[in-house]
Amino acid sequence: MLSGKKILLGVTGSIAAYKSALLVRELVKAGAEVKVLMTPDSKAFISPLTLSTLSKNPVLHSFQKNDSGEWNNHVDLGLWADLMVMAPCTANTLAKMANGTCDNLLMATYLSARCPVMIAPAMDLDMFNHPSTQTNLDTVKKHGVDIIDAEFGELASGLEGKGRMAEPIGIMEAIDSRLGKKKVLTGKRVLVTAGPTREAIDPVRYISNHSSGKMGYYIAAELEDHGAEVILVSGPTSISPPPVHKIINVVSAREMFEASQSCFSKVDIAVLSAAVSDYSPEKYSETKIKKEESSGGELHLKKTPDIASELGKTKTNGQFVVGFALETDNEEANALKKLKSKNFDMIVLNSLNEDGAGFGYETNKISIFDKDNNRKDFELKSKREVAKDIVSEIIQRI
Ligand code: C5P
Repeated sequence: MLSGKKILLGVTGSIAAYKSALLVRELVKAGAEVKVLMTPDSKAFISPLTLSTLSKNPVLHSFQKNDSGEWNNHVDLGLWADLMVMAPCTANTLAKMANGTCDNLLMATYLSARCPVMIAPAMDLDMFNHPSTQTNLDTVKKHGVDIIDAEFGELASGLEGKGRMAEPIGIMEAIDSRLGKKKVLTGKRVLVTAGPTREAIDPVRYISNHSSGKMGYYIAAELEDHGAEVILVSGPTSISPPPVHKIINVVSAREMFEASQSCFSKVDIAVLSAAVSDYSPEKYSETKIKKEESSGGELHLKKTPDIASELGKTKTNGQFVVGFALETDNEEANALKKLKSKNFDMIVLNSLNEDGAGFGYETNKISIFDKDNNRKDFELKSKREVAKDIVSEIIQRI
């Protein structure tokens, strides 16, 4: 079932760590390749030798590999994995995950990982019920982490309540359904455009906008996670690339147009989330324009290709195209106008009038309209969760 899947198992300092041995054995039996990472405290609960023997791989617990000064590369580990599972996950590690604290190899790997992450919390009932723990669980959920719920029962303290780590069999089921299930977008090819474009004025200056690319990158990752083969055409961003089939980096609207056009006929779905510059300078100056040369600061502009409209003209019946609208006024009317004029099947409206939504924020608030006149409004959410909503709306319509 998990044949060939690469799994990073994070073990933290809880008495439930004894169950990690069984979990490793089950994972290996199911065909997975397992590498175990331990926090320093967890070694008091279970020996690295046990876990390395069962996983058939060295167990890693510190940045330094050995006395030769070699290090355990957390970035490579994070990129290697198809899935990272923290089992058991203590209140301490959960809090570090919620806050991005990076004081051990396990946390550095978590922060570097691009794969899905699951946690199986394990702690005493009062620790589990504490508002801080519950807030931390909500926070990591918002970051896209799947929680394998703790169970009720007798705890190591002798108290009874919720906090026991799920049994290895339950964790295996959760891993299976996360990795083993046939994914709904398997066999679908998707084009995603994301980020801003830059229109060069001279070798030094350009016209652009505040787009960070985050929304499009999350959508691309979410589509790929559902089994799609994603081609991401990205303008210049400063965020790390998502784990997708192919990334084509472009700079200008013209380059984005050419890259998008070259793959459009081969895709089933296109999600055009890029903030494409509408204008570029009429003439590019090969040399830096001097203050005294510019005629009173005037810059003559020409229209860039409207990628969405051009692709819309050649759209075939089987293709599903999603556009975006970012409006400051007459939001609904403008979004509906674009839905029609650009031949979109669905449009996502981002409002700049909402606190916490739009450029640069980690959160976004959207409304979705489709060509059958349906409208759906969503709460303010993290961009990762918004991406899940958008992809789920696409899946429902194709
Ligand atoms: O017209 P407006 O820029 O508001 O339309 C937004 C939608 O059109 C977005 O989906 C955006 O990616 C797309 N677009 C495009 N090419 C342009 C301008 C916008 O693909 N030149």
